Amino acid sequence: MTSPFYIAPSILSADFSRLGEEISACEAAGVDWIHIDVIDGHFAPNLTMGPVVVEACRKVTKLPLDVHLMIEKPERLLEAFARAGADHLTVHVETCPHLHRTLQQIKSLGVKAGVTLNPGTPAVMIEPILYMVDVVLVMTVNPGFSGQDFIPEMLPKIAQVRKALDAIGSSARLQIDGGASEKTLPALIAAGADTFVAGNGVFKHPGGIAAGVAALRTAMK
Ligand code: DX5
Ligand code: ZN
Repeated sequence: MTSPFYIAPSILSADFSRLGEEISACEAAGVDWIHIDVIDGHFAPNLTMGPVVVEACRKVTKLPLDVHLMIEKPERLLEAFARAGADHLTVHVETCPHLHRTLQQIKSLGVKAGVTLNPGTPAVMIEPILYMVDVVLVMTVNPGFSGQDFIPEMLPKIAQVRKALDAIGSSARLQIDGGASEKTLPALIAAGADTFVAGNGVFKHPGGIAAGVAALRTAMK
């Protein structure tokens, strides 16, 4: 039976010397999306990947590539990421003074549009554009690094976004990113999240990738 909950492993935690194999292992373990964290060292600390990495991922998997843009002025790179093979482009509300226009731009590229909120940003910031998006991502850590502690105070915000999506009859995925684990999943699901980014929980699981995915699936039951 297919699960209503999606797992999106974040390759930020992968072994980059074996990226293709690790993505194939995720696919074999039955994950739903591959999450790609693009960080520019300006909007968020750390400097990670660009369109060439998305292109490389595109060659090894048919799974949707879920690209999380933690970069200033994302509108300048949307086309490059879409051309590289991204299926979803998610932008931070904090980086988009013209959020409506940026989401229109993403949709005009023929890819799914996502919007995300830092832990310090209230849900109300995205309410006017909720009708436009396919994915809402509530950050449950501050963007930058894998392996940070989950911020439980984000649970009410997730519930608030769930309510707002239901109120407009939206079928957008409600995704969380940061600190997803067997321990945190039950409360996240209770709050209304349905899509879980997991970095260390998948790639750094002591039993390997398949065991990491299986542990998350068990916690979803
Ligand atoms: C943080 C990234 C996350 C991160 C999640 O900036 O957006 O995707 O890699 O890693 P974990 O699941 O280890 O918290
Ligand atoms: Zn992410």
